[in-house]
Amino acid sequence: KSVKVFAPATVANVVCGFDVLGFAVYAPGDEVIMRLTDEAGVKIKAIHGDEGKLPLDPAKNTVSAAVIDYLQAIGEPERGVEITLFKKMPVGSGLGSSAASTVAGLFAINTLLEERLPREALLPFAMAGEQLACGQGHADNVAPALMGGFVLIRSYDPLDVIRLHTPPGLVCALIHPHLEVATRDARRIIRQQVSLKDAVQQWGNIAGLVSGLYREDHALISRSLQDVIIEPVRSMLIPDFYTLKQKALDQGALGFGISGSGPAVFALSTDQDTACSIRDAVQEHLRTLGIESDGYV
Ligand code: HSE
Repeated sequence: KSVKVFAPATVANVVCGFDVLGFAVYAPGDEVIMRLTDEAGVKIKAIHGDEGKLPLDPAKNTVSAAVIDYLQAIGEPERGVEITLFKKMPVGSGLGSSAASTVAGLFAINTLLEERLPREALLPFAMAGEQLACGQGHADNVAPALMGGFVLIRSYDPLDVIRLHTPPGLVCALIHPHLEVATRDARRIIRQQVSLKDAVQQWGNIAGLVSGLYREDHALISRSLQDVIIEPVRSMLIPDFYTLKQKALDQGALGFGISGSGPAVFALSTDQDTACSIRDAVQEHLRTLGIESDGYV
């Protein structure tokens, strides 16, 4: 018995919602082929597309480790499982690469075992995978990869995850410059203290963004896509970040920001053509800096 599962890339943080907001895109994404076998234990048969960067040791790889946890939790630790992983996006990209693989793996095992757990119950296993991948079990990539659309993590303890309204006609341009930023490092540089003035601005923007999604109010979404806490620090990791942002806004972006912990950047817009022009303008500027990139709309 085997299944093939796709899980999408995700844009975590969505500018103002550090660790609490994320959305899924249609492409790119990772794929997992999983097979139940007669030989006990979880094995990784092969990983394609990772340039040999990901561990094949089942205890260290986030996909297999999450599947092992899942099997233990449902009381079937002896199950034989063989995993083939197709990485379609690089690690350390800001596209939620590890989250997509982990979610695809958990969805695959749960499907093979006749949906033993409801879909939302897979989330804690996926978060443990993130913990393994970058030292912190944030949910703003795994939750949208699993649930689709925009997702809010209202609380981590206890876990309270809310699927938000995703307005029709929002188009995302996603650009991945060929640089590597480890989430672990991008988390280390963030300031641990926030001034009350910045906090007020930030929570106003998060609330504004969520309201904007529900009201399908593009102007409100646009006004709210501002980050006074994380972006001023992390933008240093992305060459010419503020020029890239200006280029995107000039093309009509509602907002522009770092996707997850970067180096990928994203822009929201209201139609396909605008998103394509934003992608082209950002990629063009990166090229002038000698940086190649992948672009998705
Ligand atoms: N919220 C996480 C961070 C997402 O910004 O570190 C990582 O992709």
